[in-house]
Amino acid sequence: MPAYQIKVNGETQTVDVSEDTPILWVLRDHMDLVGTKFGCGIGQCGACTIHLDGYAVRSCSLTVSQVEGKSITTIEGLSADASHPVQKAWKEVDVPQCGYCQAGQIMTASAFLERNSNPTSEDIKNAMHGNICRCAAYTRIHKAVETAAN
Ligand code: FES
Repeated sequence: MPAYQIKVNGETQTVDVSEDTPILWVLRDHMDLVGTKFGCGIGQCGACTIHLDGYAVRSCSLTVSQVEGKSITTIEGLSADASHPVQKAWKEVDVPQCGYCQAGQIMTASAFLERNSNPTSEDIKNAMHGNICRCAAYTRIHKAVETAAN
């Protein structure tokens, strides 16, 4: 099996996996970074969202060979102590219900706010609409993104 050098949360690691292994499973099964969740496995729900070179991407839909040489950030790497402004806003607004989709939501929101620090309500809706929440906590998610932006 080929060895891939993967840079995750600032640290480069080598993994021996087949080239078509989704990076989601490399993170969870080989690096023990289980904050990134498996939802649908087909790029539809957003539970597996990570940052790739600062952009929100779906880790279930990218293979290890596609991300080699790029910089990955997972929810564990967003901040050492959950002090990222989006994480703080999430706590302030008390967003989660079951919590399963929250890492993906936060990764999408943080990448979005990095590029748009003064979003309109419509901007937030557009940015977050692809992240599904089975508890339908969408009002609180929206409020938290607004809070983090202010
Ligand atoms: Fe990747 Fe649903 S698990 S988008």
